[in-house]
Amino acid sequence: MTRSSSRHVVRPELTARRADRHDLYQRSVQLPEQEIRFLEKVFGAHTGRRPLHLREDFCGTALLCAQWAKSRRDRTAIGLDIDGPTLDWGRAHNLPAIGAAAARVDLLEHDVLVPTRRKVEVIGAYNYSYQVFHERELLRRYFRAAHRSLTDDGLFVLDALGGFEATCARVERRRVAGGWTYIWEQERYDAVNAGFLCHISFEFRDGTALRRCFTYDWRHYSLSELRDVLLDAGFASVDAYWEGADASGRGGSGVFRRVTRAENEPVWNAYLVARKGPPLPGSRDAARRPASSA
Ligand SMILES: C[S@@+](CC[C@H](N)C(=O)[O-])C[C@H]1O[C@@H](n2cnc3c(N)ncnc32)[C@H](O)[C@@H]1O
Repeated sequence: MTRSSSRHVVRPELTARRADRHDLYQRSVQLPEQEIRFLEKVFGAHTGRRPLHLREDFCGTALLCAQWAKSRRDRTAIGLDIDGPTLDWGRAHNLPAIGAAAARVDLLEHDVLVPTRRKVEVIGAYNYSYQVFHERELLRRYFRAAHRSLTDDGLFVLDALGGFEATCARVERRRVAGGWTYIWEQERYDAVNAGFLCHISFEFRDGTALRRCFTYDWRHYSLSELRDVLLDAGFASVDAYWEGADASGRGGSGVFRRVTRAENEPVWNAYLVARKGPPLPGSRDAARRPASSA
């Protein structure tokens, strides 16, 4: 076989100059298959149906919207973000990759504080983005807007992080298979107001780096605070799902189980699932729950 007919493609080594920060971000931190599996599990348990209509809040490049629409021909997705250039990146890269399914994705430059008119069955807000709201009242307004945008049996799913190493100044480095190092930097954690300043950087094998190419000025919220604000905003109930450890005991397994108590760990990840209305009579979820907890 001649070199030109070989199927083996040699990719040039990734360097800071060649890299695209959105592509690196997606491949370092996003897990759309895991989010879809989880949404199917909790919505199926709640209603007995497969969820079809998703809104992704703080969608950024809308990778989840794209994978959702591609996963079934009858699925639609709306993505909301206030950053036009980031949405444009998603339109240019993630939508062409899913072919005809792209027609079922709407990406809107839209503040999540404003409800959308079209109601959806599930709203997902990932990578802790709601922590951009430093005032509890703003967070409540956001949750209220999400509540109003859901169908009567809709679910609102958010992820949360915590643990004693997640709420202090520290740096975490992780090698990613594509040939770079992902760096999560917690620059400052304020014990009085829970102000949490974090950055993402990437380093390459040739010694070049993209430093602090994403910055997050957040307020860290605990699971119990989030639950209280969700209930204040009108949700009927809120469940916590805790991620088990992987086989090594050092990382997350990607499997989340419903819990009512959990021991604090150095760093943990959880989902909160807020229900707009009670489980429908006859649903798998209604059958599992005592009537008083509906
Ligand atoms: C951490 S990124 C999340 C990207 C992606 N959803 C993920 O799971 O990795 C946060 C995004 O939230 C957007 N954002 C911040 N405030 C917003 C608001 N009030 N309404 C809509 N989007 C907002 C930012 O523009 C940014 O793209």
